[in-house]
Amino acid sequence: MKIETLRWAHNKLEMIDQRILPATFEYLSYDSAASVAEGIRSMVVRGAPAIGVAAAYGVALEALRLFASKPIPPLTPPLKEGEPIAIGISLAPFQGEGWGGDGFKTGMETGFTVLSQSRPTAVNLFWALQRMRKVWESVANQTPQQIATRLLDEAHEILAEDIRINRTMGAFGAELLADGARVLTHCNAGALATAGWGTALGVFRSAVEAGKKISVIADETRPFLQGARLTAWEMVQEKIPVTLITDNMSGYMMAQGEVDAVVVGTDRVAANGDVANKIGTYMVAVLARRHNIPFYVACPLSTIDMNIATGTDIPIEERSADEVKGFRDTHWAAEGVKIRNPSFDVTPAELVTGLITEKGIILQPDAKKLRKLFD
Ligand code: MRU
Repeated sequence: MKIETLRWAHNKLEMIDQRILPATFEYLSYDSAASVAEGIRSMVVRGAPAIGVAAAYGVALEALRLFASKPIPPLTPPLKEGEPIAIGISLAPFQGEGWGGDGFKTGMETGFTVLSQSRPTAVNLFWALQRMRKVWESVANQTPQQIATRLLDEAHEILAEDIRINRTMGAFGAELLADGARVLTHCNAGALATAGWGTALGVFRSAVEAGKKISVIADETRPFLQGARLTAWEMVQEKIPVTLITDNMSGYMMAQGEVDAVVVGTDRVAANGDVANKIGTYMVAVLARRHNIPFYVACPLSTIDMNIATGTDIPIEERSADEVKGFRDTHWAAEGVKIRNPSFDVTPAELVTGLITEKGIILQPDAKKLRKLFD
């Protein structure tokens, strides 16, 4: 089954609303940088590579919107009535600017700013914005229509490239899994977290394509339930055997000898190989080491941040307390309790058996090996 997480249709970006999956499968449509930024912030789209692709389209859409002098469209509707839509930046500079030299440039800069403030941890967002900025600068002296067209072409290319890279990583990663392997994953690093195929789940898809009979153990992934809602859904659609467990069961499963390998995705890898991924990944990595189980991280080069020396410098997003209090409208936590909700954690490089990249497997990653990757 082909999952099109993001698609270009009717001159707009359409994204599957991942907040309501798997109960409802629905696309929302976007036609400005501000609306795409809101889609990223509110988790309509999530997962590092998918966020990067969405941001690239956000830049292209902004150029198209400014060029056509369109008014600001309505932003992503909140899930709950009365919930504020906040992107933390004034939209005023967009209004009625249209094309006109400085107006266009100011509008584009605001678009870049709004997008860069949508989520802090996944480096693919900043990677994609930088790539779009380079393209914009290279065509800055062309007509507005040419600029917008060129930016849109680049966004299409980033999307297509992401799928190609996932396929390549998948083929490398599949070789690491034995026939019959029972593989645990945390969060969702699947087609829904990318433009298609997936990074960690791409490895599973490629293994199955290569004729291996593998089965997947999906951590539920509290508090946003990416494992229960998204990974489980993807694997069920794909008919890859999948078993759902709550996050606190993985140690038991490993101790019982029911896990042969762990494969996860990542939001940012520091220059020394430390890995930021969904909160709870560190716990899984420690347990895997304790039980001598290989711990692999599927990681496109766009997720490696050579500007950050170690994992301690990776910005960790702290999300709303509401997510921990309960789920959607049901709250079970005691009223008045203090809540923390760090959305990611950092697994030190020493716990990583290997990074699965589009350039091959980097066993026991360290600063020297990562530097060589970019040479
Ligand atoms: O908060 P999310 O759902 O955006 O977090 C996603 C993850 O942590 C994924 O594992 C990571 O982005 C890799 S996706 C290929």
